[in-house]
Amino acid sequence: MAFLSTHTINKIAEDVNNLGFYKIENFLKKDTVDKVIGMFPKEKPKDKELKIKIPVHFYSFIIKLFKLQFRLFFTGIYLLNLKRKLNCDKIMEKVQSKNCKLVSMDIVYNPKSDEPIKKWHADQLHNFNGKDKSIYKFFIYLTPTSTNNGCLAYIKKSNILSNTIADLMFRGALPKEVVYTLKQYSNFVSRKEVRDKILQNKNANDIDLNEVINSVNKINNNPSTNELDIQIKNSGDCLLFDETGMHRGAQSKQDRYVLRFLYQNINN
Ligand SMILES: [Fe+2]
Repeated sequence: MAFLSTHTINKIAEDVNNLGFYKIENFLKKDTVDKVIGMFPKEKPKDKELKIKIPVHFYSFIIKLFKLQFRLFFTGIYLLNLKRKLNCDKIMEKVQSKNCKLVSMDIVYNPKSDEPIKKWHADQLHNFNGKDKSIYKFFIYLTPTSTNNGCLAYIKKSNILSNTIADLMFRGALPKEVVYTLKQYSNFVSRKEVRDKILQNKNANDIDLNEVINSVNKINNNPSTNELDIQIKNSGDCLLFDETGMHRGAQSKQDRYVLRFLYQNINN
């Protein structure tokens, strides 16, 4: 397990809040990576994603026992313990607050594919939940990724743009429209009345949102670009990111395995 100094945890929090993401190298050791890969079933679908939700809350553990799903029960206990050893709660306390809680965890398998695992999108905005409903994902890669090979791409600081839009929608200053795909997002922020409202709004981090809107439009003109790829050299590396920002999962030349811990601020 990587030892993270207070200095590193501060840097993680700063980058996740300002840029939208941080890559934590060597988060998991090789033997733990192998152990988690061993939790996937031997038989997997050849042409679609397999996502296995692992119990997090007390009642879901009880339900697993009633259903005699002992494997999921013990996987849940193991992963909750792993999350504790990895200091995920401590990291999230720094990123958000004590009210940011683990809401879900899963293991995800994606077979190799010529199509993007997930096209450009921003999660949460279409939910109209208002301010700071961000979900933060510890995306722990159990297999390495690279360009055109399962890696994530992220438009820097688009998390702040999204949170500004969510806040303005919540306050009724912007229309509550479905803004999910890159095209919807780019069209929305390019409308003069929307752009003006966004730029008039002072964000806490003092980020130049005009620059972010320009980046969104640039990527919208060339969505297959690889210039924003975040490559993962080693299995066990983790990308912690705010999923309200605009991101994409590339196509993959090999099967991809991921362990995910999802956190949300439950107070908002
Ligand atoms: Fe997403």
